Amino acid sequence: MSALKILVIPGSLRSGSLNAKLAAVIAHALAQAGADVTRISLADYPLPIYDGDLQAKSGVPKHAVDLKRMLGAHHGVLLVTPEYNSSVPALVKNTIDWISRVQDPHESRGQVFRDRAFAIAAASGNRLGGTRALAALRLILSACHATVIPNQLALSFAEQAYDDMDRLKHPADIEALQALVRQLIDHSQRMM
Ligand SMILES: Cc1cc2nc3c(=O)[nH]c(=O)nc-3n(C[C@H](O)[C@H](O)[C@H](O)COP(=O)(O)O)c2cc1C
Repeated sequence: MSALKILVIPGSLRSGSLNAKLAAVIAHALAQAGADVTRISLADYPLPIYDGDLQAKSGVPKHAVDLKRMLGAHHGVLLVTPEYNSSVPALVKNTIDWISRVQDPHESRGQVFRDRAFAIAAASGNRLGGTRALAALRLILSACHATVIPNQLALSFAEQAYDDMDRLKHPADIEALQALVRQLIDHSQRMM
């Protein structure tokens, strides 16, 4: 049987990003659980702010098409989002908006979201750990017809969440990580 493929996408471009760090930690745990993990940076897929006139004139940008096909080549997708003003950053929303406009021949609308398992996580410096961004992201993905697994990881006080080896150190965070990894693998396997 071919390997279970999981795509990991951090929703921040910032060097030293707390969410890129969490994405790396979850990617490592997914790989240890046997998944074939691809971790990308949205810095490699710059996109203009969505504009219907731009789409009408020039079509969907190549980077959005590439991202959509990248999603299509994986059984599961993990999005790790910062929280900005109680929601997702424009980068995350704009990327999803563009991907949702890619229509490949012989595919129904939303098929790339419907046909794979999605998981979400967030890291923030405060106590809530990005839970409001997670609620927003779950709603956005659901509107795209994605199946978002129930387990999620909201990492509170993210600067202090790691030990010297950059492993999560609090039992509740470790438990949430393991539960998310187990459930994402389980749901992704059903998409194979
Ligand atoms: C415009 C802006 C709005 C923010 N709003 C929130 C917020 O609502 N909740 C929160 O927990 N952190 C908020 N933050 C702090 C971010 O969580 C913090 O900067 C985090 O490190 C960003 O993620 P990153 O490290 O992955 O880039 C905000 C930061 C910015 C720049």
